Amino acid sequence: MNNFNFCVPTDIRFGKGQIACLPEELKKYGKRILMVYGGGSIKRTGLYDTILDLLKEFEIYELSGIEPNPKLDSVRKGAAICKEKNIDVILAVGGGSSIDASKHIACAAYYEGDAWDLMLDRSKMTKALPIAVVLTMAATGSEMNPGAVITNEETNEKIEIAGPILYPTISICDPTYLYTLPAKQTAAGTADILSHAMEQYFQPTDDAYLTDRISESLMKTVIHYGPIALKEPENYEARANLMWASSLGLNHILTVGKGGAWSCHPIEHELSAYYDITHGEGLAIVTPAWMKAVLCDATVERFAMFGRNVWDLTEGDAREIAEKAIEKTAEFFKSLGLPSTLKEVGINAEKFEEMAEEAVRTSGISTRSYYHLNKEDIVKIYESCA
Ligand code: NZQ
Ligand code: ZN
Repeated sequence: MNNFNFCVPTDIRFGKGQIACLPEELKKYGKRILMVYGGGSIKRTGLYDTILDLLKEFEIYELSGIEPNPKLDSVRKGAAICKEKNIDVILAVGGGSSIDASKHIACAAYYEGDAWDLMLDRSKMTKALPIAVVLTMAATGSEMNPGAVITNEETNEKIEIAGPILYPTISICDPTYLYTLPAKQTAAGTADILSHAMEQYFQPTDDAYLTDRISESLMKTVIHYGPIALKEPENYEARANLMWASSLGLNHILTVGKGGAWSCHPIEHELSAYYDITHGEGLAIVTPAWMKAVLCDATVERFAMFGRNVWDLTEGDAREIAEKAIEKTAEFFKSLGLPSTLKEVGINAEKFEEMAEEAVRTSGISTRSYYHLNKEDIVKIYESCA
């Protein structure tokens, strides 16, 4: 097991009605709040009114219209508001997109140059406004981690900014807020959580026994409750388990004692950077293709372990179990109604080369991942799920 540091400073308030603590908590930072949210779901669900009602005593400024796959322009707008209105705290209400935009805004608020500079040079990120979160989507884990993924539309770059100052200080996680999610988002979020566990499970270190067992339990939980949440959107138990799996899936507890670069995420991030597709849908497409591409003598034992411990497969030798596990993974995504080919989300071969090159350039996939892949390998993966 590798050495590790593990410190998650986010205060999680989980469960029905936890939002009541918001005024008391936000008061600690000041009166002026920038509320950051998406395209209007929070108005339709009534959450917007609930929050304004709770925060009557505060001075609220709003930045709405954060796009899924949040764009740099929204961050620039948010940073300008923070500077002009002297904002004390940012309140992100929504899923990963609103939270990620808020994180980038929080540090851009203290930076005099263009917000994109911070993505390219982390040493410029010195200070950030406090960030509070009201979570409405179970997927990214952004509510309990220090990362944010932002797209620069001018350059088609979708990259991550991360640093300890970007942890949300508090996240309200009320599973009832997930009841209104469209089926497509429930499915995409489920695929994203599962992928986060897989990315950390398939890493070069083999002796982080406890971490791998935690990962397997989380994957089994998501495989169990994803379909239930789709069938019964107001099933509290299913929503609650998925919501907590979202946070644990990417607060780095599944990486402790392990390490290495991710594989499917860099391959997917190029798809959503170039074609603005839903992140979880992209993962459902590329994950089985990646698994098939990297299954070999060197990886078969771990894939077999994944098959035995996550999919409860018992019949056959390691190779057979590994192949069956990949099949089960693909079938699971399909059963959630997720796409399995790039064609289904309107992507053709035109940019495969360019996207593969970017995936290599912007990540450690060719040098530090579970199975090192170069540009040509990634093009083949895109082709295999075209
Ligand atoms: O914009 P609104 O109107 O709010 O609608 C959203 C959006 O259209 C809707 N929605 C969210 N909660 C809802 C709801 N609709 C009804 N009821 C609710 N309760 O769902 C749509 C998707 O929301 P979004 O925030 O985009 O989804 P998600 O949480 O999946 O975030 C995706 C973004 O996070 C990045 C992805 O790349 C993508 O840009 N990621 C962030 C990570 C991180 N910070 O750690 C890691 C991930 O791997 C990922 O890359
Ligand atoms: Zn993800």
